[in-house]
Amino acid sequence: MIEIKQYKPKYFNATISTLELLIEEDKEKKLFEGQWSDKDYYIHEYLSKKKYTPFIATKDDNEVLGYIIGKKDDLNSKIFHIEMHYVRKNYRKQGLARKLRNYLVEYAKDKGYTELRSYTAADNEAVVRLSKSMDWEVERKDNWYLFKKDLTK
Ligand SMILES: CC(C)(COP(=O)(O)OP(=O)(O)OC[C@H]1O[C@@H](n2cnc3c(N)ncnc32)[C@H](O)[C@@H]1OP(=O)(O)O)[C@@H](O)C(=O)NCCC(=O)NCCS
Repeated sequence: MIEIKQYKPKYFNATISTLELLIEEDKEKKLFEGQWSDKDYYIHEYLSKKKYTPFIATKDDNEVLGYIIGKKDDLNSKIFHIEMHYVRKNYRKQGLARKLRNYLVEYAKDKGYTELRSYTAADNEAVVRLSKSMDWEVERKDNWYLFKKDLTK
């Protein structure tokens, strides 16, 4: 059974763990060289710093299939961000990223945030199409898109 929940350290040791997924993602991102720096995605930052809130999708409470990392805005306490998200290759195109995003939306609403934001490289077609398919407000900024979701409606 596939479930989404907030990250806990035990998933570091799952059959396919959060750590493995982060490494897999880093390798995949070599495709987008120049846009991401290695240090940007340093695992301990995401899993230990208070401003980040990681959620994972697990299968049978054992394998980690994907994750989404939420982040409080540095300046505005009412804004929450999608810092990053990732779905393991074999589980893509089955609606898991959309579910992870919807989960984050509900979490952020519940915590009293009024807006969710997501920055996406314009040439990351999968994420751009995913965001557009969710009907969020969109602004183009050079090589980036800013997607916004009003959480008060
Ligand atoms: C982007 C990513 C998270 C999508 O995960 P996913 O679980 O396959 O996405 P979903 O199945 O929920 O797709 C939802 C919608 O997104 C769009 N989409 C997803 N993958 C797509 C692709 N490869 N090409 C075009 N559109 C795509 C489609 O509109 C899709 O809706 P549809 O199935 O009704 O057509 C996944 O491809 C991934 O992990 N990519 C690498 C990491 C990355 O780039 N992360 C973003 C930076 S933080």
